Amino acid sequence: MTWKNDLAAVASDMLPRCGEGRVADYIPALARVDAKKFGIAGIDSDGVTAGAGDYRDPFSIQSVSKVFGLTLALLAHGDELWRRVWREPSGTSFNSIVQLETNNGIPRNPFVNAGALVVTDVLVSKFGRDGAISEILSFVRAVTDNPAIEMDAEVAQSEADTGHRNAGLAHVMKGFGNIENPVDDVLHVYFHQCAIALCCADLARAGLYLSCGGTDPVNGRRIVPTLMARRINALMLTCGHYDAAGDFAFKVGLPGKSGVGGGILAIVPNRLSLGVWSPGLNEYGNSLVGSLALEAFVRRTGVAIF
Ligand code: DON
Repeated sequence: MTWKNDLAAVASDMLPRCGEGRVADYIPALARVDAKKFGIAGIDSDGVTAGAGDYRDPFSIQSVSKVFGLTLALLAHGDELWRRVWREPSGTSFNSIVQLETNNGIPRNPFVNAGALVVTDVLVSKFGRDGAISEILSFVRAVTDNPAIEMDAEVAQSEADTGHRNAGLAHVMKGFGNIENPVDDVLHVYFHQCAIALCCADLARAGLYLSCGGTDPVNGRRIVPTLMARRINALMLTCGHYDAAGDFAFKVGLPGKSGVGGGILAIVPNRLSLGVWSPGLNEYGNSLVGSLALEAFVRRTGVAIF
């Protein structure tokens, strides 16, 4: 299995770059993370796993969690979701508010914060505030095959204390009638979802259903229909890195979803799911060294979709 050697080689190539980028500090609990951390892990469609660096260290997955929220909302609400969220790249930062007013409170896609808040609202409508949190956590425990996964209450509280932009986005959408539930309930669930802590190995495992046509090949469980998996991948490719989605597609060429905790989930359709983590971010809020590592992995293995 040469991809395992490539993974280890990428990790050692990245060593001199570790610490580059700026750790997210607008969520104070994230600012304390050691910027020099780096981990990468993969799992293939035979369930073979490999990792290098700090790939067993848990980190806050933040916006990577939007992939799992979207999966659950599509299962709960089906194509009705697309009446409330578009499927177009935004070309703006993850927390931008500018397009919401001209678009009558309809977010450009489910991965910008505004779109993820609508997705969360769908889950709150379906399961209730606390029920939505349990559903999300149960789903992530199921797809990681790890019942020990938790949400970091301190990170969730830290974001709640400083989450004024998200509150602003939610209130604007509520004003347009695109949020059904109390804004505080939606924010509460969203902040908890973002505070899920996973290591790179768990993150890769969690994405395996997306690289295997919607089925978890390790236990044979169907997680989502094949078409849904394909569409989530399409959204990850076009919108998963916000205003750097084009650059990520250009340099890496894989569906990917980033988070300000420094994690990235990347999918090699029909072959591999990859989790990478390096807390230093680039100017777009995506892991700087994590993106470089995926670019290097693709260059070595040639596994990109293009
Ligand atoms: O809503 C926020 O600001 C954070 N909980 C998540 C943002 C995020 O991870 C953006 N991705 N790179």
